[in-house]
Amino acid sequence: MLKIGTLKLKNRLIMAPMSGITNLPFRLIVKRLGAGLVTTEMISAMGLIRNHEKTFRYLQSSQEERPLSVQIFGYDPHVMAEATEMVVDASADIVDINMGCPARKIVKTGAGGALLRSPDKIRDIVSAVRKVCSVPLTVKIRAGWSPGMPGVGETAKIIEECGADAITIHPRFVTQGFSGKADWKIIREVKTELKIPVIGNGDVSDPSLALDMIRETGCDGVMIGRGAIGNPWLFKQILDLGNGLKPSLPGLSDRRAIIIEHFKFLSDLLGEKRASKIMRGLLLRYTKGLPHSSRFRGSFTGVNDFNTMISAMDNYFETLLRDRGLKVDSERERLGVGES
Ligand SMILES: Cc1cc2nc3c(=O)[nH]c(=O)nc-3n(C[C@H](O)[C@H](O)[C@H](O)COP(=O)(O)O)c2cc1C
Repeated sequence: MLKIGTLKLKNRLIMAPMSGITNLPFRLIVKRLGAGLVTTEMISAMGLIRNHEKTFRYLQSSQEERPLSVQIFGYDPHVMAEATEMVVDASADIVDINMGCPARKIVKTGAGGALLRSPDKIRDIVSAVRKVCSVPLTVKIRAGWSPGMPGVGETAKIIEECGADAITIHPRFVTQGFSGKADWKIIREVKTELKIPVIGNGDVSDPSLALDMIRETGCDGVMIGRGAIGNPWLFKQILDLGNGLKPSLPGLSDRRAIIIEHFKFLSDLLGEKRASKIMRGLLLRYTKGLPHSSRFRGSFTGVNDFNTMISAMDNYFETLLRDRGLKVDSERERLGVGES
């Protein structure tokens, strides 16, 4: 169990904020499959206080996914404080500040990872947000701007002193983007310096790596990003492994059920056409590693509706069953293949 400020999570596995990925449908799925906490994608503090309609859409939430961490990004302490009050009013159970995003369009405004170059700015932002934030406050950082710049220990201490309730550390430098390996020794270093909980993040792509991270770094929580795209079962697999059980791989019927659910949630939120576009990308991830998945990819290019996409998936899954020599009729019944 992990406690962040006053909030007790049901376990210590956290879904990372990922723009374009951790929308409400995805969060609902990973929550159901075991995540102890889910996080929105990063939301512009300036967009919120200027009442941009598009920015507000990122705040769409549902009771089922709570507790919900809402991540905001920005540069101006006053704007960040005002946005904090807005997201708490909306639905946030935790407010998380982004201090790691390496994307050029964010960094050039002085926000995200650029903040790691200015300890004074970090202090001003965390203090201003803390003053108005009535729920637990967390900050997500990287190892620093680049090797040799102000140390991560110093940054983490400032954040703790200014009243954050937990820190997440993704131990790559901002200038590294996603290249190289996450250096977990840095998580350990931050953990030994701080009293507040430290959440480790980076390269946890299978269940045993999550337990390795906890053992090697002493971190209080594990945040998972890319490993859950196309494999939301990862959370349950980690929990099983932690409880001494053999983590089970999702069967075709599990995959089919989650794909359909994901598609339906997305359609409800965005309409069928936009949902189809997103689903085309996600299907590649959901079928990654399955035999002949590249053949399947060709079958839904340009498809813009639910029924065609699901029947392409069903045809593909049936081929897999045949290839495995399974009795198609009974398997079809068991898997629900062919249902609308
Ligand atoms: C597509 C994508 C979008 C991301 N968006 C965000 C974001 O909005 N906020 C954030 O703090 N980190 C973001 N990240 C970084 C992840 O939260 C995480 O720190 C990183 O992917 C390392 O964890 P992993 O190895 O488990 O993926 C993003 C990463 C990816 C791949």
